[in-house]
Amino acid sequence: MSCKKVYITTPIYYVNDSAHIGHAYTTIIADTIARYSKLLGYDTFLLTGTDEHGQKIEQSAKKKGKSPKEYADEISKTFKDLWDDFGIEYDYFIRTTDDKHKQGVKFAFQKMFEKGDIYKGKYSGNYCVSCESFFTDTQLIDGSGCPDCGKETSIIEEESYFFRLSKYQDRLLEHYKNNPDFILPASKRNEVIAFVESGLKDLSITRTSFDWGIKLPENMNEPKHVMYVWLDALLNYLTALGYGGNGEKMDYWPAKIHIVGKDILRFHAIYWPAFLMSLDLPLPHHIGAHGWWTRDGQKMSKSIGNVVKPREVVEAYGLDTFRYFLLREVPFGQDGDFSEKALINRINGDLGNSLGNLLNRVIGMGGKYFNYKFSSDLSLFQNELEKVDDIVSKLESYIFQMQTHRYLEEIWEILAIGNRTIQSSEPWVKIKSNPDEVEALLVFVSNLLVRVSILLYPVMPNSSKKMAEALGIEISPENYDRFIRNRELLNSFEITKIPALFPKVDKPKMGQAPKREEKREIAEEGLITIDKFFEVKIRVGEILEVEEIPKSKKLYRLQVNLGEERPRQIVAGIKEFYKKEELLNTLVCVVANLKPAKLMGHISEGMLLAVRDSQGLSLIRPEHRREVGSPIS
Ligand code: MSP
Repeated sequence: MSCKKVYITTPIYYVNDSAHIGHAYTTIIADTIARYSKLLGYDTFLLTGTDEHGQKIEQSAKKKGKSPKEYADEISKTFKDLWDDFGIEYDYFIRTTDDKHKQGVKFAFQKMFEKGDIYKGKYSGNYCVSCESFFTDTQLIDGSGCPDCGKETSIIEEESYFFRLSKYQDRLLEHYKNNPDFILPASKRNEVIAFVESGLKDLSITRTSFDWGIKLPENMNEPKHVMYVWLDALLNYLTALGYGGNGEKMDYWPAKIHIVGKDILRFHAIYWPAFLMSLDLPLPHHIGAHGWWTRDGQKMSKSIGNVVKPREVVEAYGLDTFRYFLLREVPFGQDGDFSEKALINRINGDLGNSLGNLLNRVIGMGGKYFNYKFSSDLSLFQNELEKVDDIVSKLESYIFQMQTHRYLEEIWEILAIGNRTIQSSEPWVKIKSNPDEVEALLVFVSNLLVRVSILLYPVMPNSSKKMAEALGIEISPENYDRFIRNRELLNSFEITKIPALFPKVDKPKMGQAPKREEKREIAEEGLITIDKFFEVKIRVGEILEVEEIPKSKKLYRLQVNLGEERPRQIVAGIKEFYKKEELLNTLVCVVANLKPAKLMGHISEGMLLAVRDSQGLSLIRPEHRREVGSPIS
């Protein structure tokens, strides 16, 4: 057996959020690949952990009145506990606040610096003074507003060290070209190539605007600078192996695969390989980028309260079914939707009707007709066995190409062959006239189930172990070799009766996001009296002038007649939805007693009423022409 070393990683999770389905998805995929690799007999190392530095975490801690380290300790533990409770077989749980990690990051920084890949310069960016943060142009609201607090940002310069990313542009492109499966799935590869081809700028890798980060190597004498959180975070994949320290596990490098979500692919497929090139280290074999999960078709968010919490799903439906659902429901790389209905369909359909049913049939008939012991040669089923062998021979490659849904689909094809063969042989009829054939059929189907239980182990470790026990075999690398690689068949079985593995689910079991009635109840708590409503003065107005605001994509400056001495100036975010001529001389409804506010430097003396949904924005207007200034009630 080979003693090849295989290193698999999950992203390290930020400690400013609790674990949700997205985190569980990445971790469960990584655990599946690691378990598969161990079945193949490879010396496997699975890494996960938490990403604990940076301004966002510093701020979250402050809001809770805690020190960043106290706060990070708390949240990091919730991730670790979750993975422990889920039986994730990680070999090391790294925290970026570990001394060993910090030492390794400084070592790497020094090396890149000595190589001439790091230089000191000035970072210029859009800075929000109240939030003490820089934002990219695309993050800004209307070209200059802070996305966090809405206030005006200004362009300021900060001293910073830069990494010569631009120097690696050609080598990166060369690498993508020569290693077409470096980025998986292939559909994501082109996005990365296009981005690199459009030109790479050097990367600012230190900050002086906050403190909560790794300091530069002491000999650089730069106490104000801390490292950019992505440089710190990416290096975890090396420091976990002892890089920059005793290096005791560096023989696992390069990683077989870094599993990441699509939102962090660029960091892993561009920055990370460039850092590694600078450190003269080999690049990982693959970066696998998965898609995003929504819930019942909606983006998950804390404010809607629809975040899927992995513990809740597992408490209601069990761990293995959740793991199966995640890997089967969406092709790796595509976005997926979680709904209880879809989960229940998978449990009752794939798991209950196909897999559970086949096992029940063998246990039922094996017990009833042969007292749980049966033996026969398999000459009658040569054709079916050939088809199964054909499927089994393809499976290994699906796993390392991250085609986990294909892998499962093919296993279900084996189950379908088993169920079809039972159906067409009608053993319940033949048991009287030809019991030998029924016995041979049970030996055949049991052999299929032996293979399926081993193959399903990486995805559903607990249920597949129970299946294997019922069939009288063990799940082990030796048996993977015997039954999967060498396609060995058994001629006799002594099976054990076990309770149904996947009982039918009749109705949803999870505490769900508030339904309509519940929402109404919640709303009732916030009822207001009519007087309160009349505190808001809404009037009919006529738009007299529409002007663009320089640099603003969203805002118009309007002059609106409310029947007063002079028209009101109203700054409205409707430019994307209305042309000027659709607004001029039309009626609108205006909140007339709103405290004036400044938007992009322009005073706004009211607000237009409008409705916004997935199709866009529509102004609320009186159905018939009415006098300007009329009150709306
Ligand atoms: N700390 C960085 C990773 C550094 S790795 C050197 C980070 N952390 S994270 O906690 O925000 O996200 C971790 C992973 O969760 C990412 O791979 C991200 O894609 C994934 N998900 C977060 N929300 C998700 C969904 N709704 N659906 C699927 N995965 C998503 O990024």
